[in-house]
Amino acid sequence: MAIQALKGFKDILPGESEKWVFMEETARRIFRTFGFSEIRTPVLEKTDLFVRSIGTSTDIVEKEMYTLIDRSGDSITLRPEATASVMRAFIEHNLQGQQPIHKLFSIGPMFRHERPQKGRLRQFHQINAEYIGTNSPFADAELIYLLMQILDHLGLLEIRLRLNSLGCPLCRPSFNSALQGFLGERQSELCPDCQRRMSTNPLRVFDCKVERCQELLTAAPTITDFVCRACQEHFEQVQKLISGLSIPIHRDPRLVRGLDYYTRTTFEISASHLGSQDAVAGGGRYDGLIRQLGGADMPAIGFAIGLERMALLLSSQEEWINRPFVFLIPLGAAAREKAFSLLTILYKKEIPAMMDYEDKSLKSQLKRADKVKSRFAAILGTEELNKDRILIRNLDTQSQEAIPIPQFLDYFLERYLK
Ligand code: HAM
Repeated sequence: MAIQALKGFKDILPGESEKWVFMEETARRIFRTFGFSEIRTPVLEKTDLFVRSIGTSTDIVEKEMYTLIDRSGDSITLRPEATASVMRAFIEHNLQGQQPIHKLFSIGPMFRHERPQKGRLRQFHQINAEYIGTNSPFADAELIYLLMQILDHLGLLEIRLRLNSLGCPLCRPSFNSALQGFLGERQSELCPDCQRRMSTNPLRVFDCKVERCQELLTAAPTITDFVCRACQEHFEQVQKLISGLSIPIHRDPRLVRGLDYYTRTTFEISASHLGSQDAVAGGGRYDGLIRQLGGADMPAIGFAIGLERMALLLSSQEEWINRPFVFLIPLGAAAREKAFSLLTILYKKEIPAMMDYEDKSLKSQLKRADKVKSRFAAILGTEELNKDRILIRNLDTQSQEAIPIPQFLDYFLERYLK
C-alpha cells in the first residue's frame, strides 16, 4: 500500500499554495511598513524551554507536545509555538543589549498533538509577531492595529476582537485565591483535571473543554474585579486607543488564553465561519517572560495568526489558480522552434506563459489552454510562420487577431502590465 501523510499533517497543493504565498507576502509587506524584521529559529528546541515558558499545567505542555529523546539522550521538542523560541534566541544573541526596542516577526510550522478536525492540525503554521521593550499601552494598540491591518489586507470580514486584561504578578494572586475559593465549594462537581488545576494553576480551569465545568464557571469570579490600579489604567488606555482606531472591541473577562506567560492585555480574533475552532489569531502581553528565561527585565507583547484557519476564510480554490497569461500553440516542428524562442522571451519579461512539446492538434492544444485557464492563446502554424505573423486568441472573449511576430512581446507587455 502507498504511504500516506501522518494524521493531522497536511500537504499544501498547487491551487491552495497560491493562497499561502498571498498570505505570507501580504504579511511581510505590512510587517515592513511597521518596522518589523524577520527572525528564523529552529523548529526543535530543548524541551525545558517550552515547559518553563508555556507552563507545566497548560494543555500544550501536559498533553500536546511532540517530545522525544534524541540520540544523545537529551529531551527535545518540536516547537508548539514561536514566542518561547524567539525569546530564547533574543536572549542567547544578546539582542537586548543592542537596542531598546525590537520588532520581530517569523513565519513557519508549529506542532501540537491535538485531535485533528476542521481548522485544527498537528502541524500547523503561524505568522508570529513580537514587540519587545515597551509596556506602553500605545504599543498594545499599535500591535493590535498591525494585526487588524494584515487581516484587512487579506480581505477578512466578520471578525471579532475579544479583549481582556489578565493583570500582573501583583494582582493575579488575589484573583487566583478568589477563584480557588469558588472552585473549592464545587470541587466534587469538577472533572479530575480541574480538581488538580484548582490547586496548581486555577486560571487553567477556563481552558477546560468539559461541559459541566464550563457551566459551573459561568458564575465564577472574573479577573476584571481584581486587577490593580496600574493594570486597570493600562487596560483603559489600551481600549481608548483601539477604539480611537475605529476597531470594535468585545470585552471578554473569561479570555485567559492557553499559555501561562501572559500578563495584562490579552486578545483573540474569532471568526464565526470557522465553526468550533474559531480563533484565527491570538496574543497578548508577556512582561515577565524574558526575565523568567534568564534575560533582562523587558516587557513585550505579541500575537500569532493561524494560517490554516486564515486559508479557510479566504475565498474558494478557483480564484487562486496560477493562470498563465499566454499559452503558445505551435503546429509543426519549425513552428515549435520559433514558439520556444517566443516562450523564453515571455519568461525573461516575467509574463506567465506555457507551452507543450508534444505534437498535438490545434483542437487538443486549445483544450489544454482552456483547462489551465490561460488568458490568451498564441497560435503559430506553417502559414503564419511563412508570413512572419502569429494568431492571438483572447480566451476570455474568443476574439482573434493576427499580429506581426516582431510585435509579439510589445503586444503582451502592454496587456499584461495593464
Ligand atoms: P495560540 O493562541 O496558541 O497563541 O495560537 C495562535 C493561533 O494559532 C490560534 O489562534 C490558531 O489560529 C492557531 N492554532 C493554534 N493551534 C492550532 C492547531 N492545532 N491547528 C491549527 N491552528 C492552530 C500562540 O501560539 C502564542 N505564541 C501567540 C503569541 C505570540 N503570544 C504572544 N506572542
